[in-house]
Amino acid sequence: MQKRTLITALTVAALCSHAVFAQDNKFKIGLILPMTGPFASTGKQIEAAARLYMAQNGDKVAGRTVELIVKDDAGTPDTTKRIAQEMVVNDKVQVLAGFGLTPLALATAPIATQSKTPLVVMAAATSSITEASPYIIRTSFTLPQAAVSMADWASKNGIKKAVTLVSDYGPGMDAEKYFKDRLLLNGGQVPDTLRVPMRNPDFAPFLQKVRDIKPDAVFAFVPSGAGAALMKQFAERGLDKAGIRLIGTGDVTDDDILNGMGDVAVGVVTTHHYSTAHPSALNKKFVEAFTKANAGLRPNFMAVGGYDGMRVIYEAAKASKGVGGGDALLAAMKGQIFESPRGPMFIDAQTRDVVHNMYIRKVEKQNGQLYNIEFDTIQDVKDPGKAK
Ligand code: PHB
Repeated sequence: MQKRTLITALTVAALCSHAVFAQDNKFKIGLILPMTGPFASTGKQIEAAARLYMAQNGDKVAGRTVELIVKDDAGTPDTTKRIAQEMVVNDKVQVLAGFGLTPLALATAPIATQSKTPLVVMAAATSSITEASPYIIRTSFTLPQAAVSMADWASKNGIKKAVTLVSDYGPGMDAEKYFKDRLLLNGGQVPDTLRVPMRNPDFAPFLQKVRDIKPDAVFAFVPSGAGAALMKQFAERGLDKAGIRLIGTGDVTDDDILNGMGDVAVGVVTTHHYSTAHPSALNKKFVEAFTKANAGLRPNFMAVGGYDGMRVIYEAAKASKGVGGGDALLAAMKGQIFESPRGPMFIDAQTRDVVHNMYIRKVEKQNGQLYNIEFDTIQDVKDPGKAK
């Protein structure tokens, strides 16, 4: 063989093997979200945030090309589980991520355990989720974090008697229990605990009950997207006029839909880990970039859970240098500490759960727009659900 032909043959061989190598060498993230159905806004926010993170940080980690595979589970647990199985077996994803609702994360936990695939919960917020698999990491928040902080604020601010009103499933049960236990511990009273169906809720009969009891406040939790209906019916039933305050977790005054709630929302106090109005330089940059990339859409707490989840995945891939599989990735996710658009944030290596600040916020109108304005901070809050 002539020297030139040999070189050409070697080059072709090198290119071919490189092509095969490149194909196998992808770093795949399987992002499963409700993109349709009543919780589609959660999917939209998280997908947009994940894409923003990739646009800002590139698609190469540890010499591999990141591939984001996004699939819609429509908020149905069986579908989430099936998609996760397909992603692990067929697509060979390195990480599973997303999980817009508690039942979706719980249904998929066994897949993570069996396949040793890290599962990053970016939205769901029932305390017990991280205990469902040793491969689960959370970048959203937990309801006990928000509910205990709210009960303490209520007790210090003249609220002695409160009724709870929550969506009747995991995170609602957590919100109810942790708010109630803490208010009672602080010397308060909880004369009733009301549970509203999770899907297509009609709040009217429950709000009527609250009106009849006449507590100082009603403490509410509804999942992201459902707060506007609650707020509307709260006003229609005249609870505000009857002197009953609405307080709750920040899910109720979700930034995604807050502007559409109107003046009835002004003055509502909630606790949460993220507000679009969080006054840090990093958050201002995040909000600006997110809004610009998404036709004016405001990022809410779901977007931040997605954005931070991508950060945790990228940094774990870099640290483990693409070797050691799921266990090495998981180990590199534990203990990450960084500044998020929400403020300082930490993944507790023991519990694999998020530790972050809880902010007390009040809805205010600024430049004609409604915002959750933070006015007090409880620092470095661990999940109270883990302190058993
Ligand atoms: C949940 O299902 O865990 C969940 C969903 C939406 C929220 C909070 C919790 O806003």
